[in-house]
Parts: sequence; C-alpha cells; structure tokens
Amino acid sequence: MLIEQLKKIVGPKGWSTDSIDLEPKLTDWRGTVSGTTPIVVSPATTEEVAAIVRACAESKVGLVPQGGNTGMCAGAIPDKSGTQILLCLARMNTIRDIDAINYSMEVEAGCILQDVQDAASDVDRLFALSLGAEGSCQIGGNLSTNAGGVNVVRYGTARAQVLGLEAVLADGTIVSSLRSLRKDTAGYDLKQLFIGSEGTLGIITAATLKLFPLPGAKTTVMIALQSSGQAVRLLSYLRSKIGDRIEAFELVSSFVFGLIKKHLPDSKQPFDDDSPWYVLADFAGIAEEDLQQALMAAMEAELVIDVVIAKNAAEAAGMWHLRHSISESERAEGEALKHDISVPISRFEEFLTRGDSLLAERFPEGQLIAFGHVGDGNLHYNVALPAGFKRHQEVTEAIYTLLLEVGGSISAEHGIGMVKRQDLPKYRNSGEIRLMRTLKKSLDPDNILNPGKVI
Ligand code: FAD
Ligand code: MLT
Ligand code: ZN
Repeated sequence: MLIEQLKKIVGPKGWSTDSIDLEPKLTDWRGTVSGTTPIVVSPATTEEVAAIVRACAESKVGLVPQGGNTGMCAGAIPDKSGTQILLCLARMNTIRDIDAINYSMEVEAGCILQDVQDAASDVDRLFALSLGAEGSCQIGGNLSTNAGGVNVVRYGTARAQVLGLEAVLADGTIVSSLRSLRKDTAGYDLKQLFIGSEGTLGIITAATLKLFPLPGAKTTVMIALQSSGQAVRLLSYLRSKIGDRIEAFELVSSFVFGLIKKHLPDSKQPFDDDSPWYVLADFAGIAEEDLQQALMAAMEAELVIDVVIAKNAAEAAGMWHLRHSISESERAEGEALKHDISVPISRFEEFLTRGDSLLAERFPEGQLIAFGHVGDGNLHYNVALPAGFKRHQEVTEAIYTLLLEVGGSISAEHGIGMVKRQDLPKYRNSGEIRLMRTLKKSLDPDNILNPGKVI
C-alpha cells in the first residue's frame, strides 16, 4: 500500500526497485556497511518530498535521505530490516537563482557540489566549500553533515556558507527560510537545526548559499617538515606574516605519501627525498615574492625543511590530485580504523605527541595513517591494524579518551551517522545528549527521519 502510494507521488521516473539501481545506493563509500530497502524514491520537487514524508509518517515507516553517498559514517544507508524507504535527492538538482550583487545563490539539495562551484565561478564569485568528493557529493549531503573540506581555514565549514534553508519536517510540513540575508535576528535561526543533523530532524530540499569574491591568483606550495608540530607552528607564523590569505593548509604524513605513491605509481612527486611530514597549502591574493619571502623566513626560523612552489596550474593540480587520492589509496589498502578528530590548534602538538606514545605503548602493531586539515585542528587519525587484530574498540576508546583530555571532538567533519552512534553519548555530556534527544523527540516523535542514525 505505502509502496504504491510512493510510486504515485513521484511518477514513473521517480522510483526504482531494480537491484541494478539499488545496489550502489545500499553500501556506503567505504564499503563497510550495507542495508536493504524495498524501493528508492527520487522526488523532483519539494512538494513531492513533503508528500513522501507524509505517507511514511502515516505508515510509521522510516525514511533515509541520500545525497551522493560519499559520507564516511554510513548515515545515508538504510538498515538491514528491508522496511526503510530510501529517498534519493539527485533529481532535485536545479540552480534556482544566482544573485551576484548579493553574493548569494539558491540551489536545490540534489545539486552536485562541483556544479554549484562552477555556477558561482561563471559569475565571478566563489562558493567556498571544497572537498575530494566534490564531483559526486550533493549540497544537501554537505549541509546535512556540516562538511568541512580543504578551505575551512579561510571560509569556515558548510554551516558558514548558508544564508537560508528549505526543509521538510517529519509530518510533511515545508519550512521555508530561503532568505538571502546576512543579518536576521527575527526569532530562532531555524536553519541551524537541519545543518549537521544528518537528516534526522528534517529533509533539506533547498538552500540559499553565501558567495565570496574570487580570491585572486592562487599559489600552491608543498612544504616538507620534520615534525607534525612544525605544521602548527608554521601555520601560526605564516598567519602572523600574511594574514588570512591562506586558503588551504593540509597535513600529510610520509607514510600516507607512501600509500599514494603505491596507488598512483606514475604520479609526479614534489620532492626527491622523503621527509616525515608534508603540508600542502594554497595561498591567494599575495604577490609571489612576498610569499617566497615569508617561506624563506620560515626556513631560516627552522620551521620547514624544504619548499616546492607549483610553477603553473598543471603542477598545482598535480599536487592536489595527490592529496585528493588519499581516501582511495587508504581504501585500496583495506579498512583502517578511522578517527575524524579535532582539537584546539594550540593543543594539536600535544595530542600528536601523546597519541604517538599511546600507540607505541599499547598498540605497537597499529600503523598510524594521519592526514587532514591541520589549519582547522582536524586530523584523520586513522590506524591500520593487522589481520586477526581484535581490539579495535579498545584502540578507538583510548584515542577518544585522550581527545577528551585535550578538549577535542570525536567527529570533526564526517558526522556520526550509523558508525559512531554508540560513541556519541560517551563523549558528549549528559545535558547535551538530553537536549539532542528532546529535539529529536519533539520534531520527529515517531522516529521516521533517518532512524538509527546520530542519536
Ligand atoms: P551522503 O553520503 O549521501 O549523506 C550524508 C548524510 O546526510 C546522511 O546522513 C544522509 O542521510 C544525509 N543527507 C543527505 N542528503 C540529505 C538531505 N537533502 N536532507 C537531509 N539529510 C540528507 N567530508 C568532509 O567533511 N571533508 C572532506 O574533506 C571530505 N573529503 C572526502 C573525500 C572523499 C574522496 C570522499 C569519498 C568523502 C569525503 N568526505 C569529506 C565525506 C563526504 O563527502 C561528505 O560528508 C559529504 O558532505 C557527503 O555528501 P553526500 O551528498 O555524499 O551525502
Ligand atoms: C579527507 O580529508 O580527505 C576526507 O575527509 C576523507 C577521508 O577522511 O577519507
Ligand atoms: Zn577530511
């Protein structure tokens, strides 16, 4: 009955029960979690989304929103019960409006991130969110996870790129706050409820996004370092010399570089010799002589070992290709234990030093796979473990305990989804958890929206 109702709402182009269509949507990008569904529905309008939600609410059947299915915490995968409906936003991919004078654009949730960036750049504006999956992830998924990526150091996370939002509540009500205002204190800022809540409080159907001026000519630089702590000190030093013109500041360990080389054997390597750590950075709107001078001074201050400045756009793209191949390279090696952590930048070095000792003393068989967005204090502190190793939970708990001690978070940018759900109550205080549960219960009393995720 419900299935027939859903088919009618979306019409013949808007649903599938064919396993060829369903299969890629039922396992997460990492390939670790799979689920089942009786049907995937792909609405073309917000009204269709509302009708789908109403139908599911009447039948008290769970609904799992899915964007590009590039998420790292299996938030977009239905459970194994075979009852949850999969809601795919891909057909809602219209860029509704671009207002270059207001530096804003209105887009539907299913727009691919790269298409949003390109549309902004066509009118000489920047949409600042950028991440390795930008060719396939969707803006609805980016906002639902409050994604970070490589430009947060200058522009902030996905949340900071949103002026207005349209969402569908668990009873099918459409809440439209698609205003394009920089200032608006008229009541609660409702859009914040849906950003970062991973589809558990509402379905995002459209957003008004903030645009920036294009940053000017970019210079991409690869920097070799002796220690990860040097990266933090270098960032602080460069900030004091050149201000906020640092667009990206990414850290990659030598071991991770080894994985990339193995995965991309023909890739051009920036340095002949190995160093323990590397930073890949983009600078914009700064004369190359001034940048060179700042980097030379950093070298004299013994903050860096060596520097390679990309000579042209192709070289810069080559360096970024290496960075964006990390997830693929890591996946190709087999499943590492992933920890998407953040710490205050001032305690980054302490976390890494204590983390090294922790792994060496308690889990010497673990191999650290560390990379990430050091400019935001966000590291992918992953640990590869040998076959047969059984104490994965112990490794994660030890790392999370250390994180708490240094004021960190167990999820910087990937969210909680299904895979970290059991950890959340242990690492957020009871007042926070109670408020999250109160919000969920009052907005979705029958637990229709993305059940089994986050809370
Ligand atoms: P999905 O994976 O489809 O969904 C993610 C969550 O959002 C799920 O809970 C889903 O139910 C919910 N959701 C999706 N659409 C909606 C909607 N319209 N309304 C309500 N809920 C919805 N992440 C980063 O933060 N930074 C990175 O640097 C980064 N790099 C990546 C690199 C690679 C190669 C890959 C594969 C992933 C990377 N990710 C990164 C993770 C991922 O791309 C992001 O989390 C992205 O924002 C997810 O978007 P998506 O459209 O694929 O969402
Ligand atoms: C990244 O920074 O590359 C991503 O967040 C993806 C990942 O952690 O694999
Ligand atoms: Zn990341």
